[in-house]
Amino acid sequence: MEPTLKNKPLKSWSPDERITAVKTIFNTITPHYDLLNRIMSGRRDVAWRRFAVKRLPTDAARVLDVATGTGDLAIEIACQRPQTEVFGADFVEKMMRVAQEKTAQKNFLQRIHYVAADATRLPFSDNEFDSATIAFGLRNIPDRLAAIREISRVIKPSGKLIVLEMTFPENLRLRRFFTWYLNRMIPLLGGVISGNPKAYRYLPDSIQDFLSPAELSRLFDVAGLHSVKTFPLTFGLTYLHEGVIP
Ligand SMILES: C[S@@+](CC[C@H](N)C(=O)[O-])C[C@H]1O[C@@H](n2cnc3c(N)ncnc32)[C@H](O)[C@@H]1O
Repeated sequence: MEPTLKNKPLKSWSPDERITAVKTIFNTITPHYDLLNRIMSGRRDVAWRRFAVKRLPTDAARVLDVATGTGDLAIEIACQRPQTEVFGADFVEKMMRVAQEKTAQKNFLQRIHYVAADATRLPFSDNEFDSATIAFGLRNIPDRLAAIREISRVIKPSGKLIVLEMTFPENLRLRRFFTWYLNRMIPLLGGVISGNPKAYRYLPDSIQDFLSPAELSRLFDVAGLHSVKTFPLTFGLTYLHEGVIP
């Protein structure tokens, strides 16, 4: 497993190396994932997911949450939308076992279903969902356009695709602070709490390697989505992108 977390720049990893590394990382950090999210984002991640759910159409009866991980967004959807049935999909089953436990504690097992699946090959028919979300997952997928197309395939016409993703802030001062925080503090905190500094080296690298908000909007256009909108959250540390299926 270890050779996949190579000491070479993320940009030079092949797609297969990256996919293997992502699986290794999320299999390794599962027990600490939620706690570290809260600490590292100062609990902003909770507010970002809440906002994402507010952007879902109010009449969405079936929603798919791709790269659902430990289920925080799937559970937030179930909390805010008592009539909605939610499907969570992820290719790391260990993460979804935590999601399942949290879902049981909230008494949502009847309304949230977890399915092992790769975002680029979803085991669902065309137009099965009213809308879909993916939070902090897209940057881990080497072929982002393929993932956007595949998720769009399973959404009905007029349904929405919502992507939450961390980005580099445009403000120069914030950018400097964020660069320091990402490159110094996150591997340190992540290393101390999870005992796996390499995994938390990947996180800042993957954020810095990700598309700008404008580039991601263009991918939405290329995938054929319309009414594309973007919302900067917390000074642009995270962006929400949404688009409507034609
Ligand atoms: C940073 S976590 C985000 C989890 C969750 N959405 C949240 O808001 O906390 C990224 C998740 O994406 C999953 N993932 C990455 N690539 C994937 C792919 N190609 N197909 C399915 N899941 C994927 C990982 O297994 C991991 O659980």
